[in-house]
Amino acid sequence: MPRILITGASGQLGFELQRALCLFGELRCPGRQRLNLANPTAVLAWLDAERPDIIVNAAAYTAVDQAESEPALAHAINADTPAALAQWAAANDALLLHYSTDYVFDGSGETPWREDDAARPLSVYGHSKWLGEEAVRASGCRHFILRTSWLAGVHGGNFLKTMLQLAASREQLQVVDDQFGSPTPASLLADVSAQLLARSLVDNQQPYGSYHVASQGCTSWHRYASFVIGLAREAGWQLALPPDGLLAIPAADYPQQAQRPAYSVLDCSKLQRTFGLQLPGWQQAVQHLFATLDDAGKW
Ligand SMILES: NC(=O)c1ccc[n+]([C@@H]2O[C@H](COP(=O)([O-])OP(=O)(O)OC[C@H]3O[C@@H](n4cnc5c(N)ncnc54)[C@H](OP(=O)(O)O)[C@@H]3O)[C@@H](O)[C@H]2O)c1
Repeated sequence: MPRILITGASGQLGFELQRALCLFGELRCPGRQRLNLANPTAVLAWLDAERPDIIVNAAAYTAVDQAESEPALAHAINADTPAALAQWAAANDALLLHYSTDYVFDGSGETPWREDDAARPLSVYGHSKWLGEEAVRASGCRHFILRTSWLAGVHGGNFLKTMLQLAASREQLQVVDDQFGSPTPASLLADVSAQLLARSLVDNQQPYGSYHVASQGCTSWHRYASFVIGLAREAGWQLALPPDGLLAIPAADYPQQAQRPAYSVLDCSKLQRTFGLQLPGWQQAVQHLFATLDDAGKW
C-alpha cells in the first residue's frame, strides 16, 4: 500500500481529497500541530521519518488580503515548503500533487488562460503561489500542478456559503459584477486528482506537468451569487433578501487589500485532451455543490 501524505486535510480541498484518495493507499493527514508548513526544515524531517510515496499538497496560505501584510509567512507556506516537498520527492522518487491558482495571472484580456501563458500575479498570495509552482517544476520530481479557480467546498468557508448566509439575514447585498471566473467545486478537483493518481499508480510514465482544472464557462461574482441564491429560493430556504435585493457593483466600489484579476477563466483543454476527462459547466457544478450543502445542512 503506498503511503500518501495529504497536507491541508482540514481545508476545503483536503477534506474532499481524503474521500477521493482513501482507496489508493494509507493516508497520513497531519494537522498543523504535527506538521507546520511554515517551517520547511521541520517538513523535511517529517518526510525523512514517514517516507511517503505520494505527497498531495493541498495546504496553502489562502488568506488573500491578509497575505499583503504577512508576505514572509505566505511565501514560507506557498513557496518555500512546496520547494522542500518537491526536492524531497525528487530525491526519493515520490510523486507530488500540488495545487495552484488563477491568481498567478493578471486577469487582463478576455481569453481563457492557458498553462504556458505568462504569469504576472497582482498580489502577494498570487506571487507566492507562482514561486511555489516554479520551485516544483525546477525540482525535477514527478509532479502534477493543478491550477484551479474560485474553489468552493462543503467543508470550510467560501463565497458561495457567505452569499447564502448573507441572503438569509440581509435585505440588500452588493456584489462585484466586473470580475470573471469559473466556480469550481473542491470535490471536482479532488476527483480529477484521484484520476491522475490512479493512472500514475498503474503506470508511472505519465504526461506529468501543469494543468488547469476548473468548471467550464464563465460568470461574474454577482451572477454566481444570483444563481446560488436562486437555487436557495427554489429549494424553499427562508431568505431575508428580496428578489431585487442583489445589486451589481464594480470592483472599484469594493476596495480590498489585495488586487484581484478581472478575468481569470482557465482554459482546461490540455487536461481534457491529454486525459480524456470531461469537466462540467459551472452551473451544473454549483447545483451539485448546493445540493450537497442543502442535504448535509453544512454551513
Ligand atoms: N480557495 C480558493 O478559491 C482557491 C482558488 C484557486 C486555487 N486555490 C488553491 O487550492 C488549494 C486548496 O485551497 P483550499 O481553498 O482548500 O484552502 P483552505 O480551505 O484555505 O485550506 C488551507 C489548508 O492549509 C492548511 N494550512 C495553512 N497554513 C498551514 C500551516 N502553517 N501548517 C499546516 N497547515 C497549514 C490549513 O490548515 P488549518 O485548518 O490548520 O488552517 C488548511 O487545512 C490551495 O493550493 C489554494 O492555493 C484555492
